[in-house]
Amino acid sequence: LARNFSSSSALQNTVKNVTVIGGGLMGSGIAQVAAQAGQNVTLVDVSSDVLVKAQKSIGGNLSRVAKKVYKDKPQEGEKFVSESLARIKTATDPVQAAASADLVVEAIVENIGVKHQLFQKLDEAAPAHTILASNTSSLSINDIASVVKRKDKFGGLHFFNPVPVMRLLEVVRGAETSDATYKTMMEWGKAVGKTCITCKDTPGFVVNRLLVPYIAEAVRLFERGDASARDIDIAMKLGAGYPMGPLELADYVGLDTTKFILDGWHKKYPQETLFKPIPLVDKLVSEGKFGVKSGEGFYKYE
Ligand code: CAA
Ligand code: NAD
Repeated sequence: LARNFSSSSALQNTVKNVTVIGGGLMGSGIAQVAAQAGQNVTLVDVSSDVLVKAQKSIGGNLSRVAKKVYKDKPQEGEKFVSESLARIKTATDPVQAAASADLVVEAIVENIGVKHQLFQKLDEAAPAHTILASNTSSLSINDIASVVKRKDKFGGLHFFNPVPVMRLLEVVRGAETSDATYKTMMEWGKAVGKTCITCKDTPGFVVNRLLVPYIAEAVRLFERGDASARDIDIAMKLGAGYPMGPLELADYVGLDTTKFILDGWHKKYPQETLFKPIPLVDKLVSEGKFGVKSGEGFYKYE
């Protein structure tokens, strides 16, 4: 965790002000890790209720970090929490928030039309040097970038849930992402405490290209009645060393999200059998069983 607090000096010249758009699960985590690393953050959401919730959850998660890092120095821990929180401003207007940003990270709903509307506005409002990036899980970076003029200053910054805990950042180069933009994205990722890997703009990048078919195969195994949900999860935890089993992970990621990703890829790549829709997932989603967030998926949650 200590690496979260160092900021590379090269970066300090390029990215000081970060605007994060979308204050949900991912955006609040991204805002937290940037603020922890000493950056000025503006967190934007269409809903001010979401922003209030985000600030609360960031405060709670910063306290978790402080308890660990400043175990024997509670006063320094409190200072760390309050100073990090003070670096996060909130706003509801993305246009205004982009005007002072060196980097904008978008983490709004996974919908290409809505993302296009937002990026068109951001491209017009942001200063010429500002880098625009998307945290999309499953859409193409080139498709998202198609509406902006600054295609050289556009890329993917793909974080993992829960953002403060998962150490990876996938840095995705679009067809026209410049070397300078790529370098700044890599440096920024390191400065916010992540290990960065690079990937081309392919479906699911690295992690989701492997993880989503793996989850899908686990659901198909369960659907065929080859093993119980609990046994599949125990098997992958104890037999392969995964922190969560695939069905637990599907509930954690969200069955709606899993379905959305598979459907999108299936439409684009109909020949790929790994991306085929799964009747059981479709059924659970149609019943409102989205996993942890709705209280039930493959398992029930309190
Ligand atoms: N924020 C901050 N800290 C958190 C946290 C959160 N939301 N959730 C857990 N933590 C911390 C806890 O404080 C705890 O810290 P210590 O061990 O130092 O006390 C640590 O993380 C472990 O947490 P728990 O003990 O509560 O639970 P756990 O050991 O079961 O770990 C987990 C929870 C980190 C989520 C772990 O189960 C895990 O790694 N699961 C797999 C998650 C995964 O695969 N994520 C990727 C999903 S795919 C994705 O995100 C991409 C996409 O596009 C869909
Ligand atoms: P979420 O639903 O928790 O949050 C999205 C937020 O965006 C909501 O608070 C919503 O009010 C806000 N929003 C919607 N349209 C907006 C707009 N035009 N302007 C400003 N705010 C807007 O979603 P999430 O899980 O945080 O996912 C966000 C993005 O991150 C998606 O692209 C998703 O694919 C990606 N992602 C998700 C995960 C995951 O595990 N959930 C992991 C990696 C990447």
